Amino acid sequence: MRRTNTCGELRSEDIGKKVCLQGWVRFSRDHGGVAFIDLADRYGITQIVFDPEDVPKGTDVNSMSNTMRGFTRESVVSISGIVRKRVEGTEDGRNPTGEVEVLITEAELLNRSRSPPFELGDQKEGVLPNEDTRMRYRYLDLRRTEVIQAMQTRSRFIHLIREYMDKNDFLEIETPILARSTPEGARDFIVPSRVHPGTFYALPQSPQLFKQMLMVGSMDRYYQIARCFRDEDSRKDRQPEFTQLDMEMSFVDMKDIQDTIEGLIAFVWKGLYGTEIKIPFRRIGYKEAMESYGSDKPDLRYGLKFVSLTETVKDAPYDIFQRILGAGGIVAGINLKADVAGERIGRNDVDRYIGQAKKFGLGGLTWMRCKDGKLDSNITKYFTPEILDNIKQKMGAEEGDLLFLIAGPWKSTYEGGGALRKKLAEDLDLIPADEMQFLWMVDCPMFEVDPVSGKYDVFHHPFVLPENDLNDKYVGGACFDLCLNGNELGSGSLRIHDPVMQREVFRKIGMDDEKIETDFGFFLEALGYGAPPHGGIALGIDRFISILLGKDTIREVIAFPKNKKAVSLLDGSPSKVDDDKLEELQIMSLSIGDIDFGGPESTDEE
Ligand code: AMO
Repeated sequence: MRRTNTCGELRSEDIGKKVCLQGWVRFSRDHGGVAFIDLADRYGITQIVFDPEDVPKGTDVNSMSNTMRGFTRESVVSISGIVRKRVEGTEDGRNPTGEVEVLITEAELLNRSRSPPFELGDQKEGVLPNEDTRMRYRYLDLRRTEVIQAMQTRSRFIHLIREYMDKNDFLEIETPILARSTPEGARDFIVPSRVHPGTFYALPQSPQLFKQMLMVGSMDRYYQIARCFRDEDSRKDRQPEFTQLDMEMSFVDMKDIQDTIEGLIAFVWKGLYGTEIKIPFRRIGYKEAMESYGSDKPDLRYGLKFVSLTETVKDAPYDIFQRILGAGGIVAGINLKADVAGERIGRNDVDRYIGQAKKFGLGGLTWMRCKDGKLDSNITKYFTPEILDNIKQKMGAEEGDLLFLIAGPWKSTYEGGGALRKKLAEDLDLIPADEMQFLWMVDCPMFEVDPVSGKYDVFHHPFVLPENDLNDKYVGGACFDLCLNGNELGSGSLRIHDPVMQREVFRKIGMDDEKIETDFGFFLEALGYGAPPHGGIALGIDRFISILLGKDTIREVIAFPKNKKAVSLLDGSPSKVDDDKLEELQIMSLSIGDIDFGGPESTDEE
């Protein structure tokens, strides 16, 4: 028997045809001797019927019944038969093949399945097992419609990227997986060399240095669907191994890179959904993003913006604010309008948010409610009526509105405020699930300075082109992020192409000449051979697809992800290796205990 059709293909036009389908037995049921089977494959589900009273002449009914008994759940089978219309009233309007069924004339068990550890049919809420069990048997989980759809979208998404990049003159070039470490802020996965014992390759955290050297090599427009590896804690939107659309261009400015990405996203959108997406995307400066939304990847699908009160309260005789402002901190407020939120948050809820302030990274949380035309709370006694009135004005507070005030050092307080803003929006159900709000976060700093040690660190990475003199008080970086619905999808920048300036940046972040030479000597040398002005960006493909599909974690759009503890439950990696292999690498064998593979109780950290 040879397959003539997939399980998603047959329609009423096919009635009367003799077909052969091959697929998995998703469900079977017996109705008074007549067997019904839902036969499934990647393309869909077709109903199969075996009626011992209705078989072609000469069919050995007994032998066929015996074969059919072996058709256990998830066994892979082959059936031939005639397409017929379903009995009136039994059609399934939700299934594209739901008007027809195939009446079996021949059947063969291709491979029997062990009893599956969980149901694979369209799941009702709560029927799916925990994620670790699904990932342990991911090959079964992959048979579920939802997962098949995720894989199809992913494949189409990547195909469309390739089509667009190719049309726009980009060359797809692979860069090494075994290489020297590239700093992207995470730990490296290292691979020991057998040929040169005691030395190691690092798996690339991104192809950053190689793509820049491709520009030195005149490749001009490069892209790659690149695997990246970062030894960092797993999160809902982070995996130790993930995929980027990585690209780099020569002789461009920031807008050229952003235009290319907007064009790409519009193209992919049209290809996936057949609709236009509005470009250009909105641009918002880093400082404004932080001070209005408490995030460098603000979610613009809802309001709840912060308003600065630093000036307004600077003379308030309230000790806590005075101390914070004296140390250079900020005070800001968020107005929960009475009609949207204020009246839905009672005194107990307020206390609950205050209790959670630490979790958000805030020192505390102050509240005021607008009542009888005045601001009222347990602390208003520390403020003059004039200052209270100014706060009211500044916040646009009206009857019934609730104000939350945050105070503390600029960065941590706004970040904490951002976490609070998100929690409030979730609790109050203010986030429209199917809206997509892209934005470019621009005007970023080149460095971040540790407030305690005064040490400089880079805001993005050390290859970003500084926008002004490195000795200026504030140095801007020619870098930007692409954000979607409160997630960072990608980051890009113009790069330094002058080796002297590159060395200065390394020094600025505390590297001495020896370290610079050891880690980046080869790269500085490359920049010295006519490196063109260039820039580029990388987008996280797993993140992008998971947001498009409304998935809670990127694990759902990766065929074989690691679990929350960076373990692959399917193949049991990471695993111990034999001592003789270690010996060959001249690595000492350590006797270690059992590996903690995680389990249903392992949770994602936000
Ligand atoms: P960056 O480190 O910001 O930039 O990474 C770019 C994008 O990759 C995705 N991403 C991840 N996705 C899943 N799991 C992870 N562990 C993970 N880490 C990052 C995010 C992120 O926005 N070389 C630079 C880009 C450049 O300058 O061209 C880079 O890698 O969506």
